[in-house]
Formats: sequence, C-alpha cells, structure tokens
Amino acid sequence: MVDLSVELCGIGLRNPIVAAAGTCGYVTELADVLAPAWLGALVTKSITREPREGHPPWRLIEVPRGMLNAVGLANVGLERFLAQKLAGADRIDTVVIGSIAGNSVEDYTAVAAAFDAEDRLPIVELNVSCPNTGDGLVFGEDPGALRALLAEIRPVLTRTKMLVKLSPNVGDITAMAASAVEGGADGLTLINTISAMAIDVERRTPRLGGGADAGGLSGPAIHPVAVRMVHDVYRAVARPAGVPLVGLGGVMTWTDAAELILAGATAVGMGTALFVDPRSPVAVVKGLRRWVRRQGCGSITELIGRVDSG
Ligand SMILES: Cc1cc2nc3c(=O)[nH]c(=O)nc-3n(C[C@H](O)[C@H](O)[C@H](O)COP(=O)(O)O)c2cc1C
Repeated sequence: MVDLSVELCGIGLRNPIVAAAGTCGYVTELADVLAPAWLGALVTKSITREPREGHPPWRLIEVPRGMLNAVGLANVGLERFLAQKLAGADRIDTVVIGSIAGNSVEDYTAVAAAFDAEDRLPIVELNVSCPNTGDGLVFGEDPGALRALLAEIRPVLTRTKMLVKLSPNVGDITAMAASAVEGGADGLTLINTISAMAIDVERRTPRLGGGADAGGLSGPAIHPVAVRMVHDVYRAVARPAGVPLVGLGGVMTWTDAAELILAGATAVGMGTALFVDPRSPVAVVKGLRRWVRRQGCGSITELIGRVDSG
C-alpha cells in the first residue's frame, strides 16, 4: 500500500493536498461538498484583527486559463471568527491551518497571539501580501519589512508552527524565502496570486471594481511560474535549511501536484480548482497514489524534490 502521508512542520498530514487560503471558506464550508478526510489540511480564509468588508464588485472575473480576484480580504474579523467559525474545526476530520493578515505589525501579532491560544490551529500561515498602512510597503515584497514583521510575530507563537506565504510579485523570491527562514519560519507556502489587471475596452475602465484596479491572477496560467519558484526556493533555501514547502498555483490535476512535489513541495495547495470543482482533490489524491506506485516508491516523500535536472 502506498503511503501518501507527509509531515509539515512536524504535524502529520494524511496526504499532501491542502485547500488554499481564501478558496474554501472559513473552516466548515467545503465539508458540504467534499469530505475533509480527502484533504491533508485546509487553510482558513485570512483573518484580520478587525472585520473587513473587502472591495466592492467586481471581485472575481474569469480570464483565459485563470481568474482575477480583488476580494480585499473580506472576513468577519478575529472576534467573530473565534466565537462563531472556529468551533466547527472540531467536526472537521483534517488539520486546520489558520491564515493571518493585517495592515500593521500589531494587527498580525494580535491575531497570532489569539491563534496561538487555540488547540484547533496547530499551524498558522502568514499572508504577507498586504500593505503596511504605516509605510505603504507590502510586507512580503520587501525583505526589511518582512524581517521586521517576523521579529515581532515569532515570539508570540509559543507552540504554533509558522508558515510564511510568499508573494511572487518580487524580483528574487529566493531572497524573500531566505528572509522568512532567518525570521524563524517553520515552513514556506508559495505562491500567492500574481498581480494582474484586465480592462473593459468599451467602457475604458478596469474590469475589477472598487478602485482596486489590479487584482491577483490565479489558476492554470500561473502554474509554470509556481513550479519554477518552488524549484528555485527548494534548492537555494528550503533544502539547505531543512524547511518544508507548501507549493501551490494552478493545480487542477494530479500531474500539476506531482510537478510541484518533484520541484520540492512537501504539500500542495489547491485554490482556483475548488471554484471549478470543489471535489477535484479526490481525483488528485487518487492520481498521486497511482503515480507513486508507478514510480516504484512506498512513500510519496521519496519523490519530494526529485526532479532530475541533469
Ligand atoms: C478568490 C480568492 C481568494 C483568496 N483569498 C486568499 C486569502 O484570504 N489569503 C491568502 O493567503 N491567499 C488567498 N488567495 C490565494 C490562494 O490561496 C492561492 O495562493 C492562489 O490563488 C494560487 O493558487 P491557485 O492557482 O490554486 O488558486 C485567494 C485566491 C483566490 C482565487
């Protein structure tokens, strides 16, 4: 029997497939259509200290081989998340990872401290693709800003493992990965959406609403970019440091997931695919199992980072 289980930051996942932040609701919503036991883990929507309404419509538009979103981190805020949403984690038969976002260091540390006190969230994931209202710098796009953020969050997480989710909107993602590991990341998630824009040529206006203009591109269009970034970060930073990667970006099929595993991912996220078919992880898990067997391996972990680049 092929073993699909992996260990992410010391936490056991029954398989490598992770439902990505912001694409599967808060905690329990996906369970209406997909038994959580098909997932290694699911990541909550990013939670901020205060509630956020997000951007006005249009927030999601379809583009060739993907979609653009400008949701603007709409969420109920920390207090209501803890009071109303998180209890559902007890009914969910998978690991729940708590995603944290904010616009200041204090925003992040407040949510991190609250999540650290929760047994139901053994791992948190920092969504650092947010601008700091103080200086306008996006935390995950500036090594200094990222280091300063992690210096404050790391001590707050006394028992919870810390994943840092990297933005692809940088010149050198390996430098950001190195900053995150120096800042104490137990693992790295990559990639978040790629900054992008679409224009309505008749109205001559941006197709995404609310003055956001630009949004984030996800789906198959970004998959080869994700493979390249996971490959580079694995070799330059993650493998030498012994830090696991969650690879994601446009995973629709088991072959997409297998590519990211060979590039160096221990776990593989699925986001946009859940909008197309929320049950798509089932076929991915089954396909990975057959692939591992065909490769003559007893465990999927034998294939992590094993692309033969010659
Ligand atoms: C509608 C939508 C909402 C998202 N919300 C979040 C979020 O709240 N936090 C976060 O870290 N990433 C968020 N993401 C990014 C995804 O988690 C993922 O990194 C990205 O979409 C690439 O994966 P995919 O191509 O499989 O969708 C969102 C993506 C989409 C499409």
